[in-house]
Amino acid sequence: MHIHPSGPLRGCLTVPGDKSISHRAVMLGALANGTTHITGFLMGEDCLSTIDCFRKMGVEIEVREDEVIVEGVGLHGLCEPEEALYTGNSGTTTRLLCGILAGQPFTATLNGDASIQKRPMGRVIKPLREMGASIEGKNDNYCPLTLYPSELHGIEYRLPVASAQLKSAILLAGLYAEGQTTVIEPAPSRDHTERMFRALGVEIDTEGSTITLDPPEDLHAVDIAVPGDISSAAFFLTAGAIVPGSELTIRNVGVNPTRTGVIDVLRDMGASITEDNFRDESEPVCDLTVRASALHGVEIGGAIIPRLIDELPVIAVAAAFAEGETVIRDAQELKVKESNRIAAMVRELGRAGVDVEETEDGMIIRGGKTPRGASFETYGDHRIAMSMAVLALGAEGVSRIDDPEVVAISYPGFFDTLGQLGG
Ligand code: S3P
Repeated sequence: MHIHPSGPLRGCLTVPGDKSISHRAVMLGALANGTTHITGFLMGEDCLSTIDCFRKMGVEIEVREDEVIVEGVGLHGLCEPEEALYTGNSGTTTRLLCGILAGQPFTATLNGDASIQKRPMGRVIKPLREMGASIEGKNDNYCPLTLYPSELHGIEYRLPVASAQLKSAILLAGLYAEGQTTVIEPAPSRDHTERMFRALGVEIDTEGSTITLDPPEDLHAVDIAVPGDISSAAFFLTAGAIVPGSELTIRNVGVNPTRTGVIDVLRDMGASITEDNFRDESEPVCDLTVRASALHGVEIGGAIIPRLIDELPVIAVAAAFAEGETVIRDAQELKVKESNRIAAMVRELGRAGVDVEETEDGMIIRGGKTPRGASFETYGDHRIAMSMAVLALGAEGVSRIDDPEVVAISYPGFFDTLGQLGG
């Protein structure tokens, strides 16, 4: 695919549903008593992998054009799958399913694509074993993972990384444990699991960085409206900020405070972003409007990192257009995402002539000189593909993206929307 430098991007758009919330809606809907209607569900490959895994455990899930209907089987109603559960490219499916499978009275195996087979699972295996789970993994750290029937008990666990996938896996296992389960976070990570648990009637207490769950008798199905994914909106917020003359309104974006670091950082850089029509449902939602502005470099590190971890590749693109130095630190988790996103972004920004330096835990970008179009690699990573597409809009000269279809993991239709807005 070729991308040409863009004139102003203007108009209104909606982005597909939040990936994290879509996964959890299917998982908790499956474990609830009753029927869950999910609207705004993300029909991306990752979330379809979650649906597929639950179907293999006997859950009836109907996918319609505008909603997904999950017939809950109750906490103890999953069936033993006849074959391995395939989680594709999805870390959230793999890690959260570990938590659920740890508490089942049957054996199941989880495996995914080449990227999933390289992602660390030891962080989930360790606390689940402490809870009594019986798990085997390749080198005790990688997929395929096999979970055997076992009795679980609650633990208190201090997370070594601020990871919502890890936190959620432990809390999901806690549904099946004897006694309370407590997790302590080093910094706040996305809290969609906790919010959805509360909505389904689970007793879960958050006090500062400590989250405690009491195992429930059952979960009561509720309908779930998934807001637009701020991680997808981030590409348009950045494009709107860097392409001169742009003004974009993105409607119905989830603005859970554990996810809005990208708005804070872009504003810090000088971007104009306004919020309208705010409503606080079980997840807060609003419309965001971005207008092109001159950007300047900033320092990004510490507790904000988990609030923007998935947006760092596109924030690095914003930094390339920002006058002066942007330092990203404390972001070593980027190395174990769908690709090594530090190495990938440093390499691809370098191809565009951006002055960028890789560090142990992030990168330093000296921006302000217009990047040049180039031929970009995606490393099979949806967020690298969309980040480089955004860079290409503001670059000088034509760019090429090697496998644009990877965007379907989280944002089918990304390039069509970009085109409709003038990109
Ligand atoms: C997610 C948590 C984050 C994030 C991922 C989705 C989730 O991963 O990067 O895209 O839905 O819980 P970590 O928990 O590994 O930080």
